[in-house]
Amino acid sequence: MYNSKITGLGHYVPENVVTNNDLKEFMDTSDEWIQERTGIKERRWIDPKTEDTTAVMGVKAARIAIEKAGLTKDDIDFIVFATLSPDMYFPGGGVQVQEMLDMPTIGALDIRNQCSGFIYAMSVADQFIKTGMYKNVLVIGSENHSGGLDKSTRGRNVSVIFGDGAGAAVLSRSEEEGKGILSSHLHSEGKHAKELALLGPSTGKWVPEILEKNDPDDVSYFPYMNGQFVFKHAVTRFSEAIIEGLAANNLQKEDISMLIPHQANLRIAQFIQKKFQLSDDKVFNNIQKYGNTTAASVIIALTEAFEEGKIKDNDLVVLAAFGSGFTWGSVIIRW
Ligand code: UT7
Repeated sequence: MYNSKITGLGHYVPENVVTNNDLKEFMDTSDEWIQERTGIKERRWIDPKTEDTTAVMGVKAARIAIEKAGLTKDDIDFIVFATLSPDMYFPGGGVQVQEMLDMPTIGALDIRNQCSGFIYAMSVADQFIKTGMYKNVLVIGSENHSGGLDKSTRGRNVSVIFGDGAGAAVLSRSEEEGKGILSSHLHSEGKHAKELALLGPSTGKWVPEILEKNDPDDVSYFPYMNGQFVFKHAVTRFSEAIIEGLAANNLQKEDISMLIPHQANLRIAQFIQKKFQLSDDKVFNNIQKYGNTTAASVIIALTEAFEEGKIKDNDLVVLAAFGSGFTWGSVIIRW
């Protein structure tokens, strides 16, 4: 069996910065409330006058990752695209990337696992490489949340949290033993699906019904989150996923060089940091700048941590995420 190694990383966020104070234009909120509860200071929201979409941002991140890997688009064998906010109901973002990057007719797979989307996407790509089926897999996480949020006071508990952006990694075949992705661990618990969900635009509510009702008070077209319920599960599941990943590789928490938690809420990341007794230089957070970018959050954070020189050869890097589904998981990497 082969190993997969990250050979290229890239990220892209829209230029438009929206501060907590900017949000006061649309809703009753405060910088103090948002920072105290979430750690977020600002986020990027796509300016609708620009060309950016979920797929376009994914392509921008992918171009950088492919170049950093020292490859060209023709070297990529397969695309895995994670998002909960695709440009179209169908088809998904993977085929858009294949077309926009003018790639050969390689396979493209979409992952629908929300905040743990990138963890699932990495795991899928890793399996294809391990078995020898593909040499280079492009893995993308991209989200356009701003287009679908309830930006009035009614939706403030959800809309202040989410931001737009994309990240990409190239996973490549490696024969170096003990390096690259050591293991990945994936979980789900569908009984909590409706605690963090977008219920409206679905096959449970088809277009004729929407048109017929035309109800401005129907909030099912916006994401719903039972915040405190999600928070409680997040802290437990994050910890379990990290412990499981370490145990599978006979490692201890002291072996962690860098933990990249999904950027759901700074308070969750701080809870995990304390629980695992990790020093500040061993946990990377950038939710302060970008908010929660769901499937893009882990890969944007990984890219920034790497670019800032915080990840070095041989480091043990742990990625972990939890979110809607509920789904959660971890990826353990020897850099
Ligand atoms: O990435 C996927 C996983 N997601 C998560 O892990 C998120 C987990 N949950 C959370 O991070 C937190 O639950 C939130 C940050 C979303 C919300 O914090 P909370 O402490 O759970 O707030 P809450 O929704 O219980 O609301 C508390 C109060 C309410 O007012 P009253 O009823 O106490 O008077 C809300 O109306 O805060 C009010 N509130 C706000 N006030 C100002 C809610 N949102 C806002 C807001 N600005 N944006």
